[in-house]
Amino acid sequence: MRTATARAHPNIALVKYWGKADEELILPVAGSMSMTLDAFATTTTVTLDPEADEDSFVLNGSPATGTALARTTRFLDHVRELAGSRERAHVDSMNEAPTAAGLASSASGFAALALAASRAFGLALDERALSRLARRGSGSACRSVVDRYAVWHAGTDDETSYAEQIDAPDLRLVIVTVDGAQKAVSSREGMRRTAATSPFYDAWITSTARTLEEMVRACAAGDPTRIGEITESHALRMHAVIASSEPPVRYLAPASVAVFDTAAALRAQGVFAHTTADAGPNVCVLTTPADAERVAEAVSAHGSVRIVGPGPGAHLVDETVDAG
Ligand code: DP6
Repeated sequence: MRTATARAHPNIALVKYWGKADEELILPVAGSMSMTLDAFATTTTVTLDPEADEDSFVLNGSPATGTALARTTRFLDHVRELAGSRERAHVDSMNEAPTAAGLASSASGFAALALAASRAFGLALDERALSRLARRGSGSACRSVVDRYAVWHAGTDDETSYAEQIDAPDLRLVIVTVDGAQKAVSSREGMRRTAATSPFYDAWITSTARTLEEMVRACAAGDPTRIGEITESHALRMHAVIASSEPPVRYLAPASVAVFDTAAALRAQGVFAHTTADAGPNVCVLTTPADAERVAEAVSAHGSVRIVGPGPGAHLVDETVDAG
């Protein structure tokens, strides 16, 4: 019997991924950059089952069916193809993120699954190959393979589209789970709609590529203020291009917008606070270790808060290979 357990954390993009050049391979239209978090891990065990004729997937103690199971099986098909195997597997996954936090569990989920499944099927992938594999499950998952800060190179094909680590100053994110959250359009569907209908989509693609270059320079220069400025303006640009879709999509709730305003007011007082948000109403405020408590206190009027920092990429926790 072969079994492997891996752990991975979600990541928050400071330069966002929004749009695919290839839906099948999950190649993005532009690169992106993120912080892998030190909280809300997913722990996943993959066990090969020579007796089974189907894969099975248990998420947080309950058997998954429908889309969740189909996506896992499709992902395992990629791993089987790489490993030259036809064996079915049992996947058991535990997610530490509270559902309401809206933290893309698909990133930590597919990063942990990529590592656990590749090991269980006997593959020894290097970080780049693992990132490419995780990408096939969910684009942003390729960044959760990497420690601390990652750049996802857009690339032009399966080989050239992967995330790698970059150095950046030690920063914190104050995650605000806002009140009054509404059900969102999924990222996958929202991206399709933006690409198909927004008159600003081409400008979004070309400007994101330039923004990423600027972000990489700011990280290399160790310039937290510029990193913060780029983070907030790029998040707002993403929400603007999304809002320009038809029918329009608006992910930010009134309380989310209030967090942007609170952070701006803090900045006016000399506090380091720059805001970002993904495809949902919850918001993250980028800050320094020194200012994190003050920011958390100020934004706590708008929802529950949690301070997180840069964390480890996907890693193996346990592995059993029984030749018999
Ligand atoms: C707004 O990686 O969840 O969080 O590739 O379709 O699975 P798929 O999408 P996903 O999209 C993440 C979108 C985002 C921005 C980001 O994380 O860069």
